[in-house]
Amino acid sequence: MIGIIETNRLYLRQLTQKDLSNLSLVLSDKESMRFYPHAFTLEEVAGWIEKNIKRYENDGFGLWAVIRKEDNLFLGDCGITLQNIDGEILPEIGFHIIKSFCNKGYATEAAEACKEYAIRKLGFKAIYSYSELENKPSQRVASKIGMSKIKTYKSNGAGKVVYEYKIKAQSPVRHLTVRKIMAGRMQKKCADNME
Ligand SMILES: CC(C)(COP(=O)(O)OP(=O)(O)OC[C@H]1O[C@@H](n2cnc3c(N)ncnc32)[C@H](O)[C@@H]1OP(=O)(O)O)[C@@H](O)C(=O)NCCC(=O)NCCS
Repeated sequence: MIGIIETNRLYLRQLTQKDLSNLSLVLSDKESMRFYPHAFTLEEVAGWIEKNIKRYENDGFGLWAVIRKEDNLFLGDCGITLQNIDGEILPEIGFHIIKSFCNKGYATEAAEACKEYAIRKLGFKAIYSYSELENKPSQRVASKIGMSKIKTYKSNGAGKVVYEYKIKAQSPVRHLTVRKIMAGRMQKKCADNME
């Protein structure tokens, strides 16, 4: 496997400061950053990379570089971070794709793999995605990876929408069946021991 996560078309690897100019193609782009307070300066992009390098060390995960396998092209970032969502610290999937590569399913493919990673490798029972109310592409990605809208709230005067993917609890029927089988086995064991 190349990188941390691999999908059909992509791999995700840790960001380094060498990604500065590529990452600024999305984070410093006014149109891409229209739902953020402002597009980032180059220093802010460097700070973003630094913050994620710290997250890899402290949390074991963060936003990773999204690379197209066929030509090693840098497409943007996607990954898992801990975010304060309406007062709760929750694992969140975030993504930023350079606009000339948008609407080709790359964010969805990367985010789906991050969701699986968050649940299978990191052991989270639920994973979230939140965005500005108007950020329809982000919400579309969340719903395409099986998340459901759970609430909206206001933060600093801006409306936010929260999506969630929760692993399903075992159905009560299955639980009962397992208990019944176990009880049956226990009874047999006791009977055997008494013989
Ligand atoms: C959000 C973002 C990462 C999506 O990346 P992407 O690679 O284009 O995503 P995908 O191609 O996997 O899916 C995008 C979906 O949004 C849809 N979409 C695009 N613009 C839309 C709009 N204005 N209204 C509704 N849906 C829209 C696309 O049609 C597509 O859905 P479909 O497959 O059903 O047709 C990208 O738009 C981006 O980088 N935006 C700027 C940064 C950002 O806001 N990140 C999220 C922070 S919360």
